[in-house]
Amino acid sequence: MYRLVFTQVLRRFDAEAVHRLTVTGLAVLARLPLLKRLFHRAFAPHDPVLRVTAFGVHFPGPFGLAAGFDKDAACAEAIAALGFGHVEVGTITAHAQPGNPRPRLFRLVGQRAVINRMGFNNSGARAAARRLRRTRGVPVVVGVNIGKTKVVPESEAVADYVAGARELAPLADYLVVNVSSPNTPGLRNLQAVELLRPLLTAVKEVADATPRRTPLLVKIAPDLADEDVDAVADLAVELGLDGIIATNTTIRHGGETGGLSGRPLKGRSLEVLRRLRAKVGDRLTLVSVGGVEDVDDVWERLLAGATLVQGYTGWIYGGPLWAARIHRQLARRVRRHGLSSVTEAIGRTA
Ligand SMILES: Cc1cc2nc3c(=O)[nH]c(=O)nc-3n(C[C@H](O)[C@H](O)[C@H](O)COP(=O)(O)O)c2cc1C
Repeated sequence: MYRLVFTQVLRRFDAEAVHRLTVTGLAVLARLPLLKRLFHRAFAPHDPVLRVTAFGVHFPGPFGLAAGFDKDAACAEAIAALGFGHVEVGTITAHAQPGNPRPRLFRLVGQRAVINRMGFNNSGARAAARRLRRTRGVPVVVGVNIGKTKVVPESEAVADYVAGARELAPLADYLVVNVSSPNTPGLRNLQAVELLRPLLTAVKEVADATPRRTPLLVKIAPDLADEDVDAVADLAVELGLDGIIATNTTIRHGGETGGLSGRPLKGRSLEVLRRLRAKVGDRLTLVSVGGVEDVDDVWERLLAGATLVQGYTGWIYGGPLWAARIHRQLARRVRRHGLSSVTEAIGRTA
């Protein structure tokens, strides 16, 4: 049914226009308490075998929505009500900014992929904080992903991230330092250990000072050389970070300028996960993202050592109840393997 709606209607419209309409619809749903609770009861993961605890936070299921969809923290409760086990909002920057000129979002339907060069369009940390303080009505785990404001020079990047972290860390179930989006000039240079060390140290100080100590993760690019993946992993362990999110979009493609996500990213994303697991074992929580399309992909990432898995592009092609379906099938798979919890699958083939 969704496939028909997608091919006959949605794909004929500009991708960003469809995205905006979807976020608006979900923001409306988020403000309708009764309907939101009904959806939550019907579609959110409730099966106890799916429960996962990572860095002290309880997740109803291991599969969540990756950053970039709910950039302004406008509708996380509605997204959770559709079946995602957590929602990573953002990327949010300390200051509001419009992002790059349009068009900046392109579907590659044949490849089940997307290219985007959005450029962190968002209304800034203060506005997001106001939304995150609203009562939610249904339980939802919210990660907050922060990035650098475009006009801030690289030399002032640390202070800019710290400003965002101060506003948002107290309101986040976990905080993510994003140094891997390709659409803010110079951002990915911050992945170099000499620059990453002072940045993560400063943000961690802020995250550690919140009343509940907010867990801190770093999100990396798939285009890092293997040795650089190792170096970031070592640094994350050394600084006492809680985890790594791998990966963001790739710039290794021949299409429009921007980051590629979806099916073509699957192989490299899995490769980075395997490398990280071999390097850090279970000393860090690994969150795997990139090209996840179905329950087989989620299962494979769990077995390879991811505690949490995320997806975004697969939702565009899989339809509104994509995550609910994956969680339902995952619960069945866990039982079929004679396991009593999905956590028993984590790292089995690592
Ligand atoms: C339209 C779009 C916008 C995105 N924006 C962000 C962002 O703001 N911050 C971020 O960390 N990742 C962002 N991402 C990357 C996703 O979070 C994810 O890492 C990547 O798309 C790979 O997962 P996927 O193949 O399941 O989409 C974006 C992805 C897409 C498709």
